[in-house]
Amino acid sequence: MRNWMDPEPGPLRIGSEQHLRMFCNMLLQTHNPYRPAVIEWPALTPEALQRVTSLPIWDIAVQTEGRASIRVKTFARTVAHPLLRSALEMDGGEEARHKEVLSKLVEAYGIPLAPEPDYPPPADPEWGWLVTGYSECIDSFFAFGLFAAARRSGFFPAELVETFEPVIQEEGRHILFFVNWAAWYRRNLPWWRRPLFALKVARVWAFLVWERIGIARGIDADGVARDASFTMSGSAALGEAMSAAAMIDLCLAENEKRMAGYDTRLLRPDTVPRLARFARRFLR
Ligand SMILES: [Fe+2]
Ligand SMILES: [Fe+2]
Repeated sequence: MRNWMDPEPGPLRIGSEQHLRMFCNMLLQTHNPYRPAVIEWPALTPEALQRVTSLPIWDIAVQTEGRASIRVKTFARTVAHPLLRSALEMDGGEEARHKEVLSKLVEAYGIPLAPEPDYPPPADPEWGWLVTGYSECIDSFFAFGLFAAARRSGFFPAELVETFEPVIQEEGRHILFFVNWAAWYRRNLPWWRRPLFALKVARVWAFLVWERIGIARGIDADGVARDASFTMSGSAALGEAMSAAAMIDLCLAENEKRMAGYDTRLLRPDTVPRLARFARRFLR
């Protein structure tokens, strides 16, 4: 699941058919077939249970996975290329499985959840896919660091951290797949459609920034929890012990580690790490 090399040697041209095959096979061949139903949730001490249940992230986490799953699956249905389509279907299926893992955790520890909203398919499937892809690029980067911080500090019991490990690595595979898809897709657009696509990607980033500013202010207009709160409240819960600079360093190091095992010819998610390195220069 963590290590994957394409057996075909030689340099890779981004945007080629070989590139498409490579990032699809990376996702398909590193799938971990665990089943949420058989996960054994470790017994927690009363203090650990209290820490886990009082984190304000469970509603948001469950709903984020629910939305990601419908968005990815909806986009998959628009794709004619059989290999790409099956990789997208697997990606969407893994999101549905994340939701199941979280639901089982919530059930196992008696965490009360708000009633779940509907997850309607997006009107523009490509928009939904881009929003999910880029938001995962942001959230996974911070989740990698937060997860390592939780492991180090013992904020969560070690067994619980290990139970969750595959979910975190799966998000790493997803963003690796997504950035390679985005580069491949862009290269294969006719020249006159590229500016429109660039504009759409810019709108997605603007939307994600706006969404995260909203969360930072605690705006919750229609009572539905927002995607990125996982990162925000996660760092609030764990962050007190760490400076922002140390947190960014940890995120960068963990990001490297999570990506290190995959074929180096594939592109790496680099926008968020680059922004983080830039922000890091102003922190001590
Ligand atoms: Fe997920
Ligand atoms: Fe994902």
